Amino acid sequence: MVVPEHIAIILDGNGRWAKMRGLPRTAGHAAGAETFRKIATYCKNIGVKYLTVYAFSTENWSRPEDEVRAIMKLLDKYLHEAIATMEKDHIRMKILGDVSQLSESLQNEIKETNDISSRYDGFQANICLNYGGRAEIVNAARHYALDVASGKASPDIDEKSFSRYMYSAGIPDPDLLIRPGGEKRISNFLLWQCAYSEFYFSDVLWPDFGPEELDKAIEEFNRRDRRFGGVKQV
Ligand code: FPP
Repeated sequence: MVVPEHIAIILDGNGRWAKMRGLPRTAGHAAGAETFRKIATYCKNIGVKYLTVYAFSTENWSRPEDEVRAIMKLLDKYLHEAIATMEKDHIRMKILGDVSQLSESLQNEIKETNDISSRYDGFQANICLNYGGRAEIVNAARHYALDVASGKASPDIDEKSFSRYMYSAGIPDPDLLIRPGGEKRISNFLLWQCAYSEFYFSDVLWPDFGPEELDKAIEEFNRRDRRFGGVKQV
């Protein structure tokens, strides 16, 4: 069984999970954060090198104010706890997205996780926060244009050099993209990076998505025939 080097997941279904239990949506997000912790540990143990999750999109700001506040609070708590344990566990973390609009405390924690991460090799968890795939490409194009204007970059760009302007610079493209929660769409996630990823959709709601569900996705991934636009090898 081949373990994908990079797995990306769209966290979906927290709200419905809570509603089914008569709980507030924020309880679903708290359960979702716990599931993330479990799945990240499992990924590290089975040899996945990168796990990237979509935790908060540029569109999610339009949710009710108290829900946004609760999600930010959970992220704050999660990053705070991660800072205390990631050194011991040798876990690297990276936040992908426009962090300039996040609270000062989140931004400080992000700086700290980046610092710790730079000292280690090995498993890396990427959390997409205030992230949008199109915004990421536009942001990369803007920075590239500035570098061309100041003579730092040549106008003769290719895909590989453009990738260095993305939030995901240095991270290999996802091999497998998983969307739990029953929807079958990409929702502006990793548009550039998913060009050749295998997609796996599951009806299981994210808080219920355990290691056995991840195993099913990896088994399905192993049945896929990845050709990257080429022909099947015989
Ligand atoms: C999608 O479910 C979930 C979100 C938009 C928020 C996810 C955020 C967390 C779990 C917070 C902490 C994250 C980490 C990585 C520590 P939904 O609300 O769209 O569910 P629904 O479709 O059932 O309403």
